[in-house]
Amino acid sequence: MTSSKIIAGNWKMNGTATFLKECLSYWQSLSLVHNLVICPPFTLLTEANKSIHSSKVSLGAQDCHQKLTGAFTGNISADHVKETGCSYVIIGHSERRQYHGENNDLIKAKAETAISSGLKPVICVGENLGEREQGVTLEILQTQIEACLPNSSRDFLVAYEPVWAIGTGKAASLKDIEEVHGFLRKLVGSGIPLLYGGSVTAENCKEIISLSDVDGVLVGGASLKKQDFGRMLCGQ
Ligand code: PGA
Repeated sequence: MTSSKIIAGNWKMNGTATFLKECLSYWQSLSLVHNLVICPPFTLLTEANKSIHSSKVSLGAQDCHQKLTGAFTGNISADHVKETGCSYVIIGHSERRQYHGENNDLIKAKAETAISSGLKPVICVGENLGEREQGVTLEILQTQIEACLPNSSRDFLVAYEPVWAIGTGKAASLKDIEEVHGFLRKLVGSGIPLLYGGSVTAENCKEIISLSDVDGVLVGGASLKKQDFGRMLCGQ
């Protein structure tokens, strides 16, 4: 029997309430092998929570603020996220690092706050193309891990997402994923789920999640394809 892994779907700034409802109803009608964490935009979370009725499905947000309350116009706190019914929150995604200037210190602060609100942060790390080409991938990851991981608890996940693999259709090779995950496992120790993300599709998902030290995947584009994502959740 295939063991259950975590398949997280990051919808980014995509999707509608109607489509999400349709997807959740379809996915929950399947014989799910893996555990789904669906991460739609903030505005869809409360409604999505009402459509979840499988113990294999949970809800996640894509970010939260590092403070719990205050004068931060337009921001969403970890308590707000928790109140929608979320169990998870993605922290430090490379698009947040790139377009919102988020650095390792901020990411650590957000992760600590998320934990204090009862959420499990999915902390993203990953090298960019220049770093990969210079051969400094493992050093970069070590720096990010040492700087970003919370001290208060071990109730978090780490997602390895090489920046050059995100949305490019060019996933890291199985060999590279295995090497990096083995390295991350040594750094973080046992009991912390390690996800891979970056151009995961219905075609490569099964092989990727069967690698050692890969506890699941974080999926962007392919999580918006109802049927393909359904196949991934069923271990096909
Ligand atoms: P992708 O995105 O699957 O579209 O490459 C992954 C992510 O950004 O988490």
